[in-house]
Amino acid sequence: MAGRTAIGLDIGTSVVRAAELSYGRGGITLERFGQVVLPEGTVHDGEVIDPLPVAASIRQLWSATGFSHSKVVMGVANQRVLVRQLELPYMPPNELRASLPFQVQDFLPMAVDAAVLDFFPIEETIGENGGRNLNGLLVAASRDTVLANVQCAERAGLSCTSVDLTSFAVLRSMGRHTGPDIETEALIDVGARVTNVVVHSAGVPRFVRILLMGGQDVTDAVSERLGIPSQQAEGLKQQLLIADQGTEEFAAVQRAVATTAQEFVDEIRGSLDYYAASSPGSPVERIVISGGGSRLEGLQERLASSTRLPVLAGDPLSSLRIGKTGLDDRQLDFVKPLAAVPVGLALGAI
Ligand SMILES: Nc1ncnc2c1ncn2[C@@H]1O[C@H](COP(=O)(O)OP(=O)(O)OP(=O)(O)O)[C@@H](O)[C@H]1O
Ligand SMILES: [Mg+2]
Repeated sequence: MAGRTAIGLDIGTSVVRAAELSYGRGGITLERFGQVVLPEGTVHDGEVIDPLPVAASIRQLWSATGFSHSKVVMGVANQRVLVRQLELPYMPPNELRASLPFQVQDFLPMAVDAAVLDFFPIEETIGENGGRNLNGLLVAASRDTVLANVQCAERAGLSCTSVDLTSFAVLRSMGRHTGPDIETEALIDVGARVTNVVVHSAGVPRFVRILLMGGQDVTDAVSERLGIPSQQAEGLKQQLLIADQGTEEFAAVQRAVATTAQEFVDEIRGSLDYYAASSPGSPVERIVISGGGSRLEGLQERLASSTRLPVLAGDPLSSLRIGKTGLDDRQLDFVKPLAAVPVGLALGAI
C-alpha cells in the first residue's frame, strides 16, 4: 500500500462505512472498503442519538476491514444542517470567513454561536448598486450534531481530521464526469432516511438540498400495509423482482412501494423545480443516482418519467484503481452505489 492514504468514514442511518484511498503518481487507488450494519435506532434521520453502540460498530468496522491507520474525514447530513444560496458583498476569503457570523446570523434557524459555518463561493456577480458581489452556498451545521459524529469516532479510538458536508462528498466522488455534452447535472444519493441532492456544473455546486426521506420510508409503508415486521418488509421490498407475482401479497407490496416511491420522486422533482426557478440559466440536463435506496426497483424509471431527464446509476469507483481490497467483482458491484459518500470524504483529504 502506498504511504499516503486517506480514510472517509460515513455514519449513515442504517450502516457505518468507510473507504481508504491511496494517492500515487499512477492515480488514486481504493485500498479498503468496509461496512457494518448499525443496531436499529442508534442513528435517527442521520443524527447519532446513541453513541456507544455506534462507536462499537465503528470499532468492529476497523477490526474487520484492516484500515492502515485511524485518522478519518467524516460527513454530516441531517435536519440540523442547513445549506442555502446566498449573495454577499465581495471580500477576500479570510475576511469573508471572519465576518460570516455577522453576515448570516439573521437567516439561521439556530443561534450563531451554536453553529459551524462555511461559505462556498460559486461566482462573482454585480449587485444592484454596481458593486462586486459573491454568490455562493452557505453551510450552517449545528455544532452539537457535528460533535456527536466526531465523538463517536473518538470513542472508537479514531481521530477525526475534518468534517465535511455529505453532499459535497457525493459531489467529489460522482461529479467529475460532466463534459462538453453535459454542463449541469443533479446527483442524488438516496440513503435509508436521508437523501442528498446536489446540482453542479463541472464540479462546482450550485444547489444542495438535504431531504429527510429514503429507502426506509418504503420499507415502513410495506410493513404498515401488510402488518408485518420491518425486517420482513425490507426483504419483500428488495425481492420485488423475483417475487411470486400472482399473489395478493405481491400486489400489496407493489402498491405500497409504488405509492411511497412516487411520493419520493415528487419530493425530488419539487427540489429540482425550485432549483430551476432560481437558476434558469443552468438547467439540469441529467440525474445521477447513488446510495442504497437508489436500488429500489423502478425508482430510476419513475424519476426519469417525472423529470423528463435521463437518469443513470453513478459509479464512484470508475475513476479509481482498485487495489487489494479483498473484494471480488461481484462484491465491488454491490459496493458501488454505497461508496459515493466514504470515497468522496476521502477524496476531500487530498
Ligand atoms: N436491493 C435493494 N432494493 C431496494 N432498496 C434497497 C436495496 N438495497 C438497499 N436498499 C435500501 O437502501 C437503504 C440504505 O441505504 P444506505 O446504506 O445508503 O443508507 P444509510 O447511509 O445507512 O442511511 P442515510 O444515508 O439515510 O443516513 C435502506 O433503506 C435499504 O432498504
Ligand atoms: Mg448514507
